[in-house]
Amino acid sequence: MTMAAWLRSLPSLTGVAPEPDAGPLPDAPEPLFERWIRQAVEADVAEAHGATLSTVDADGIPDARVLILKDVGPRGWAFAGPRDSAKAEQLAARSAAALTFWWPAVLRSVRVRGSVREASEEESAADLAARSAAARDGIPPGGWVLWRIVPDRVEFWHGSPDRRHRRTIYRRTGDGWQVSAPATESETT
Ligand SMILES: Cc1cc2nc3c(=O)[nH]c(=O)nc-3n(C[C@H](O)[C@H](O)[C@H](O)COP(=O)(O)O)c2cc1C
Repeated sequence: MTMAAWLRSLPSLTGVAPEPDAGPLPDAPEPLFERWIRQAVEADVAEAHGATLSTVDADGIPDARVLILKDVGPRGWAFAGPRDSAKAEQLAARSAAALTFWWPAVLRSVRVRGSVREASEEESAADLAARSAAARDGIPPGGWVLWRIVPDRVEFWHGSPDRRHRRTIYRRTGDGWQVSAPATESETT
């Protein structure tokens, strides 16, 4: 079997979508995100707080890596890492970033897109202090950074085995969020 044929033979979208969210959508994306990640964990998604952080370097070349979500709230989606890392250098040069979650068991993905701000020294130090001794090993004071991605757009993707996927999209307006009602769409996945 060719590689292409073998890849095509692998199943995708094998999870089970939860019942659609009842009632009106929240006014902001954070409560919906919290509901979804909790449902993903209840459905036994392993490491549901793992996500892909995409950044661009000073030349506009994209980069991406997996990391762990540390917090979510009105101030944004928080993640952390070493100051002497490619992501730190890239974020210092270009604050644009995206964070992508994929929870196969519930057929859901979330895309968070916006700009990244460094948290205060105290918050970064508190995050480092909460890590295990092994994880803190070798990191000098100031060598660990907590960042928050402050989104302009958050997309909640509801997958469907019949490929009639739906997206709920939050777009930031001057003083709040505009939410688009889920539209059914055909996909080629
Ligand atoms: C499951 C998982 C969780 C990870 N969590 C983090 C994390 O929270 N912070 C971090 O800096 N790197 C984390 N990493 C390592 C990153 O993927 C990456 O290798 C590292 O951050 C260096 O990336 P950079 O060179 O682009 O900065 C994690 C990797 C995996 C696979």
